[in-house]
Amino acid sequence: MTTPSYDRDFWEQLWSRTLRERADDVARRLPNAHLTAEAMALRPALALDAGCGHGSDALWLAAHEWQVTAVDFSTAALTHARSMAEAAGADIARRIDWVEADLASWTHSRVTAT
Ligand SMILES: C[S@@+](CC[C@H](N)C(=O)[O-])C[C@H]1O[C@@H](n2cnc3c(N)ncnc32)[C@H](O)[C@@H]1O
Repeated sequence: MTTPSYDRDFWEQLWSRTLRERADDVARRLPNAHLTAEAMALRPALALDAGCGHGSDALWLAAHEWQVTAVDFSTAALTHARSMAEAAGADIARRIDWVEADLASWTHSRVTAT
């Protein structure tokens, strides 16, 4: 038995297939309940959504005035997430920087809120 490899190809194929077959379901996915409960109690600042996938968490954070860097290495997932943000309006879209990168090697230089 071989161990699955959760590499970029695996996620890209999974997101491509899922978005092709069930885009409407994906678009309705809610943000993570633990994230929203915790973040509600915090003053909005900078957030890193590492492995943002469909982008619901990043969208929720941006809608609550967080400045978000959302990173994923799936082109399909990021395309979907970016279009969801654009559909949500300019105020939300401008608070999210979408980054296509492998978190194993990506580094972020910004460390302070502006
Ligand atoms: C289980 S999904 C989680 C998606 C979303 N954050 C959520 O909570 O529903 C994991 C996500 O991490 C991304 N991912 C996994 N390993 C990664 C890596 N090394 N660099 C960038 N993204 C990665 C995948 O493409 C996928 O979108």
